[in-house]
Amino acid sequence: LKADLIGQISQSGDLAGLESVRVHALGKQGVVTALLKSLGKMTPEERQEKGPVIHSLRQAVAQGIADRKQALETALLNEKLASETIDLSLPSPKMPKGSLHPVSQVMDELAEIFADLGFAVASGPEIEDEWHNFSALNIPESHPARAMHDTFYFEPQEGASDKGDKGRMLLRTHTSPVQIRTMQGQEPPIRIIAPGRTYRSDSDATHTPMFHQVEGLVIDKGVHLGHLKWTLETFVRAYFERDDIVLRLRPSYFPFTEPSMEVDVGYTLEKGRRIIGGKQPDGWMEILGSGMVHPNVITACGLDPNVWQGFAFGCGIDRLAMLKYGMDDLRAFFDGDLRWLRHFGFAA
Ligand code: PHE
Repeated sequence: LKADLIGQISQSGDLAGLESVRVHALGKQGVVTALLKSLGKMTPEERQEKGPVIHSLRQAVAQGIADRKQALETALLNEKLASETIDLSLPSPKMPKGSLHPVSQVMDELAEIFADLGFAVASGPEIEDEWHNFSALNIPESHPARAMHDTFYFEPQEGASDKGDKGRMLLRTHTSPVQIRTMQGQEPPIRIIAPGRTYRSDSDATHTPMFHQVEGLVIDKGVHLGHLKWTLETFVRAYFERDDIVLRLRPSYFPFTEPSMEVDVGYTLEKGRRIIGGKQPDGWMEILGSGMVHPNVITACGLDPNVWQGFAFGCGIDRLAMLKYGMDDLRAFFDGDLRWLRHFGFAA
């Protein structure tokens, strides 16, 4: 019987088969169970003789089943492991990739170009006070230029003085207040650009209420207009990636620069499209405002204008991007339309 049962155990090929062998041998009606039960009806002498034999049979069968069960389970697990391996060398499904906003990409480009010219990047708050945005920039309360800016003002805070300058807060109308904060915060010589968001109550194809500017400021000894012109030329040629760009400097007026000038880039017409560049321009496009920093501004920042001079410029970043990539509606920048972004190569 023992040899027969051990044979059945080792021949059972799966757990279900082994279980039926177990029931056949050790189950309630099992053959080994029956033998164990028969011990009770034996005489003590018989029991003494057969008892150990039957017990060792039960022991051997139980052990055999346990061993076989373990072996079958191990085999099953190995099989499962072999069939469920992950092939890490398979190509993964394509994930859509995000990209930086075109304006951010242009800002990064500007920072790189000016870094090569020794300019650091500075920043200031978008919620400004009147003093930094206007007064310190030589635009006093009564100055008509304040009205020109279509400023978004905040309601005066309770308890704050609404008389005089520092009382009223506003959304900065240009990046020029960063000039003031930089001159107050660090010793000259200063060479910074300050890209960032600016706000004016204005909206059409070429104006959005929120837009972007980059400010430039140089303060040093013996700075003159030639430095400004060279810096702007170098910047514009690097940005538009053409060496044949001609600049036109037009006399203009800003309260915080004297003299002031607006700067145009020459464009040539190619199949009716305006392309920036060309030694003999067909026309001009305005790209920025600039000038020598007004002595009143230098004084307002606690510096001596007889020692320190400088130049500044301010430039619309959205406009720069439009010119470089041939876009005609500024508002598309803020629609987040993937088709538009892909068209101009800003997204994959
Ligand atoms: N802040 C001016 C503007 O917003 C631009 C400017 C900056 C002009 C610096 C001169 C110097 O129009």
